[in-house]
Amino acid sequence: MYVEIVGLNFRYRKSHDKIIKNFSLEISSGEIISVIGESGSGKSTILRLIAGLEIPESGIIKVKNRIMVDETTFINPEKRGIGMVFQDYALFPHKTVEGNIRFGLNALSSQKQKIRVEEVLHLVNLTAYKKRYPYELSGGQQQRVALARALAAKPALLLMDEPFSNLDRELQNKIRDELKILIKQTNTTTIFVTHDREDAKALADRIIILNKGEVVKTGEAKVALA
Ligand SMILES: Nc1ncnc2c1ncn2[C@@H]1O[C@H](COP(=O)(O)OP(=O)(O)O)[C@@H](O)[C@H]1O
Ligand SMILES: [Mg+2]
Repeated sequence: MYVEIVGLNFRYRKSHDKIIKNFSLEISSGEIISVIGESGSGKSTILRLIAGLEIPESGIIKVKNRIMVDETTFINPEKRGIGMVFQDYALFPHKTVEGNIRFGLNALSSQKQKIRVEEVLHLVNLTAYKKRYPYELSGGQQQRVALARALAAKPALLLMDEPFSNLDRELQNKIRDELKILIKQTNTTTIFVTHDREDAKALADRIIILNKGEVVKTGEAKVALA
């Protein structure tokens, strides 16, 4: 399996309750998974655990046969090869579109960085906007910059937390379709979190329904949400 998550358990330091309970998930290469659940069900926490921003109490996470975390191993977030798009995009306000995308490509030579930035700008259709700052862009364009930044380093796994929640409905539908094409084009294995069943149906191959930190249902997206 491309991604293997086995028996994750987690609680935040200050909380008494277990937030994630025995969470397991296997993902094939190139698959798009959606984790659905109400607010507070633990969706963002799952992504934070996979990204390495939190440490599980127990459980194993493997990506491409590499152990990210288990009882004796913990790989730091920047070494995981995992790209993340946050709900608020988290763009650097003082950096241009180009500067935002370049960030995270430090390992490449300056010339290679330049080439890669051009490639992903082209991919998300923002070549003409590379000198602009985030505040000079629409919500949809900002979202595409965040996506371009995440894809620039060719992540082994892409995580997206409620990627459409800051967009108006009409734009959501358009971007959703574009995003699916882009993800499939680049064959990027993806987990995205949403509370919106329509988003999940339109984008995901498979869904996981989470309730109070527990998986209550999984299945092929169109069937499970019919
Ligand atoms: N840093 C934190 N410290 C303590 N509790 C937290 C923290 N972050 C989230 N929680 C709690 O963990 C639960 C799951 O939160 P979260 O993963 O953000 O849910 P979702 O993304 O599904 O809305 C909630 O009850 C939330 O209050
Ligand atoms: Mg959340």
